[in-house]
Amino acid sequence: MSSVVIVGTQWGDEGKGKIVDMLTRYADYVVRFQGGNNAGHTLVVDGKKFIFHIIPSGILYEKKKCVIGNGVIIDPAVLLGEIEGLQLKGLPVTPERLLISERAHLIMPYHSTLDQVSEAALTAGKKIGTTGRGIGPCYVDKVGRCGITIGDLGDMGLFRDKLEAGLEEKNFLLSRKYGVETLDIEQIYDTFQEHAEKLLPFVANVSLELDRARKNAANILYEGAQGTQLDIDHGTYPFVTSSNTIAGNACNGSGVGPVHIDSVIGILKAYTTRVGEGPFPTELFDETGEQLQKKGGEFGATTGRKRRCGWLDGVVANDAVRLNGITGLAITKLDVLSGQKSLKIARKYQHEGNTYEAMPASIRLAREVEPVYEEREGWQEEITDVRSFDELPVQAKDYVRRIEDITGVEAAIVSVGPDRAETLLVKNPFEKHDVLSPGESDMQ
Ligand code: GDP
Ligand code: IMO
Ligand code: MG
Repeated sequence: MSSVVIVGTQWGDEGKGKIVDMLTRYADYVVRFQGGNNAGHTLVVDGKKFIFHIIPSGILYEKKKCVIGNGVIIDPAVLLGEIEGLQLKGLPVTPERLLISERAHLIMPYHSTLDQVSEAALTAGKKIGTTGRGIGPCYVDKVGRCGITIGDLGDMGLFRDKLEAGLEEKNFLLSRKYGVETLDIEQIYDTFQEHAEKLLPFVANVSLELDRARKNAANILYEGAQGTQLDIDHGTYPFVTSSNTIAGNACNGSGVGPVHIDSVIGILKAYTTRVGEGPFPTELFDETGEQLQKKGGEFGATTGRKRRCGWLDGVVANDAVRLNGITGLAITKLDVLSGQKSLKIARKYQHEGNTYEAMPASIRLAREVEPVYEEREGWQEEITDVRSFDELPVQAKDYVRRIEDITGVEAAIVSVGPDRAETLLVKNPFEKHDVLSPGESDMQ
């Protein structure tokens, strides 16, 4: 029995979905614990591409259970769309395979509208570049103790009371502050009544379920969304998302005690990307940046925006190791670096004679610091067909070893392409339990 947390170490889109999908083979449960449909997790299996925003990335395996924890916020229309999309592909999602915490909060239509109009009203330099999915406003209501949970859909009287209170305030803001159309209560109520019928069968006490599972020696995989530098407390605030993205929140966001987490795998893209606004010390504005963007297919899986690209940042990697307690790395997209003559890794930052070994909390400093790089030789060979670490070009192995030296953490996984098969599993985080569960068959 093992519980493994997967987290993004950078600004999101490190390839968490791919690694979760790959490791689900060894797990019994896959649990999302924070974020909402701002996430876009891509899986490629035998050339077929799936993008999940809210459903855990273990859903392609028939016999595994997927769980949406209390820390996740749910836009019901998006969740139902994903469930229906899978059904159309012949992958039925039943309440036996998907459990949703009764305590998870709902993203209401006024949350996404407010997200979009408030972002539009910000001046250049102040914009966060949110996904517009209502994430900030929904978490604001949760913390403000006026949110609506998915469990509330079981009592439509209570739901209506909460909706009335919420909408009164939000409509005031929409019309008076932002000068846009207000939302209609009856329309929202009717839509959510339909959602309730479809979603309530999935609703459960997730904490109890995971506790039982653990006592029955289940392997549990926790799937983080976003990345460490987008964490509401530890990221490049305010250019962050509105939840804790780090490993500690796997416990809060699913109702599990910290002593029950065995290891934390940090997903580290072999270079760096960021989508949306905010500081990015190793960002490249030259041809190399464009090459990484093109070769890496760096477009947001949720919004389709072009991702900003830059060199690997050792400062960011070390922040992630410290903040998450990372025990193993999964280095992804190593194949994208093929063809580069030389590669740079930032080791520290400098600013006005001062040296920084962690991302400065001051947003002004985070914007102004200059990375101090070390340079390494690149490799020319394409490596997507490589299936063992030893077969990698010597410079690629050296690059991975250097990352291990800098972070003090072993590379447990190296990913050389988007497909599930294009993965080198050096050390299985579930290794004590790496046999498939009896009767396991995977849907793909
Ligand atoms: P996530 O949000 O962390 O799950 O990552 P995304 O799915 O948003 O973005 C990662 C992108 O890189 C997706 O298009 C993946 O299919 C792709 N990907 C993942 N690992 C690799 C890899 O090792 N090599 C290449 N070339 N692409 C990869
Ligand atoms: P995955 O799970 C990359 C970014 C947005 C914006 C900031 C705040 O796919 O890695 P929000 O809508 O959360 O209020 O936006 O956070 N962001 C992500 N960037 N990957 C993600 O998720 C992200 N989720 C949010 O672009 O800069
Ligand atoms: Mg993504």
